[in-house]
Amino acid sequence: MMRMYEVKDRLVTSALFWWYRITNREEAAILQIKTDQLTYLATPDLLNLYRAAKQVEQAQVAGMFIEAGCALGGSAIAIGKAKAKQRAFRIYDAFGMIPAPSDKDEADVHARYDEIKAGKSKGLGGNTYYGYTENLQDVVTSNLAKYGIPIQDNNIRLIKGYFEDTLYITEPVALAHIDCDWYASVMSCLIQIEPNLSPGGKIIFDDYVEWSGCRNAVDEYFSDKDGYVFTRVGRKLHVSKTLR
Ligand SMILES: C[S@@+](CC[C@H](N)C(=O)[O-])C[C@H]1O[C@@H](n2cnc3c(N)ncnc32)[C@H](O)[C@@H]1O
Repeated sequence: MMRMYEVKDRLVTSALFWWYRITNREEAAILQIKTDQLTYLATPDLLNLYRAAKQVEQAQVAGMFIEAGCALGGSAIAIGKAKAKQRAFRIYDAFGMIPAPSDKDEADVHARYDEIKAGKSKGLGGNTYYGYTENLQDVVTSNLAKYGIPIQDNNIRLIKGYFEDTLYITEPVALAHIDCDWYASVMSCLIQIEPNLSPGGKIIFDDYVEWSGCRNAVDEYFSDKDGYVFTRVGRKLHVSKTLR
């Protein structure tokens, strides 16, 4: 059974899909990701993510692309489509159960986690929730290949585990899509990624509007940082590092 917002998003996606088939074939391919139910991002947010990655690529900002939190790989496909073949793209995820939230997350987050933990979360379009899938890493690898970006030919790596154990960044980063819901997950990403962000680079936060823990982590982390421009793009927060 589809939820109301999924029905609305599907209608918007099909209208845009046919329009883009005529006017912009590249963006029509991004809309296919929605039709295939591979992402939780709404259609405009997915397109904005693709366009932001493309803008960073075209500006030739130095460094790798990162996604923290890929689920079925939909947003990773959009980023992979925007990048040059040789640019490194690292995709971090538990590829299993999301970790428990902490006391820095509020009631909204704990209620959502309890639903997931109880095995009651529904997947997109009534499918199985991705977190209950045994071989999620293989599923994402295969989804990327289906969209013409096989990982072995496109400098893409999938890194399995909790960010607290796996995310250790020592190279420049041009773009990071942080889509991992809870306070501690977002904070772990910021501590590793922000000091390595190149001038002109961007961090896109998926959950700033939606989840209290993400909002708390971002506000706290950037409270003493200069040299950033914060822009609300649709329902997402895009943070750009200034050139000087
Ligand atoms: C909302 S989903 C990502 C959605 C995806 N970007 C899309 O296009 O639909 C969040 C993902 O972050 C992962 N995650 C959250 N916190 C994590 C952590 N600390 N370590 C590893 N993975 C984490 C979850 O397991 C889940 O796969």
